[in-house]
Amino acid sequence: LRVIEIPASPESGMNVSALEDVLKVWDVKACVVSPAFATPTGSVMPTEARRGLLALAERHDVAIIEDDIYAESGWLNVPDTLKAIDTSARVIHCSSFSKVLSRDLRLGWVSGGRWHDEIVKLKLTSQLASSRFLQEGVAGFIAEGGYASFLRRHRQDLRRRRDQLLELLSGWNVSLRVTTPHGGLALWVELQEDVDTLRLYGRALQEGIVITPGNLFSVSGKFSNCLRISFAHPWNAARVSALKRLPELMI
Ligand SMILES: Cc1ncc(COP(=O)(O)O)c(C=O)c1O
Repeated sequence: LRVIEIPASPESGMNVSALEDVLKVWDVKACVVSPAFATPTGSVMPTEARRGLLALAERHDVAIIEDDIYAESGWLNVPDTLKAIDTSARVIHCSSFSKVLSRDLRLGWVSGGRWHDEIVKLKLTSQLASSRFLQEGVAGFIAEGGYASFLRRHRQDLRRRRDQLLELLSGWNVSLRVTTPHGGLALWVELQEDVDTLRLYGRALQEGIVITPGNLFSVSGKFSNCLRISFAHPWNAARVSALKRLPELMI
């Protein structure tokens, strides 16, 4: 497996014309994309870009793997999924309960278009069976309306925690740019060019603070001055003091 990194905007996601340039040069088989609240930025691809991506995939005969795992965490509507506007069964739509309900469930789903039967076979040979008991439990939770009301509360919690995090970041005494996502679990902080967040990671770890340095999200060493910060966790005193300590450790 060889991976090519496609540039993306923190607001509107994958740069489709950059992908087009790559497809002219390389024989790409599949393109993995999260159009709704992509990690690490929380970007959402606009409808036009989604259509452009599908048209490009059609021209170059590329499979699209739509990782839609954050879609249900959003509190604003997002455009139709790639799967919904795909007319040639080339989108493999994947999602999971891991990001919203519980990562312990390890329960997800896939709608594999023209490759669906092969995917089912691969799943059988690599994982055998998934727990029927768990699946029936979650199906019942959805059917009885429990999941819908859980999602309503959960989105409100996420939104409140995002705002709390943004407010705290506005008090940081360093210059930065930050995304304001309307879903997902994290936001993306771009610091001054000379801040090395991998070095910051080492310093913070010595004080028991764990951060996610930006270069984890690049295969070519980019984003060394960036950080992904999660707002998925409940807001508490330890978190607040860790977040306040970080800019001091950057100096
Ligand atoms: C962007 C993204 N897609 C897919 C997955 C996989 O989800 P699961 O935990 O259900 O295997 C993860 C999990 O961490 C993820 O971060």
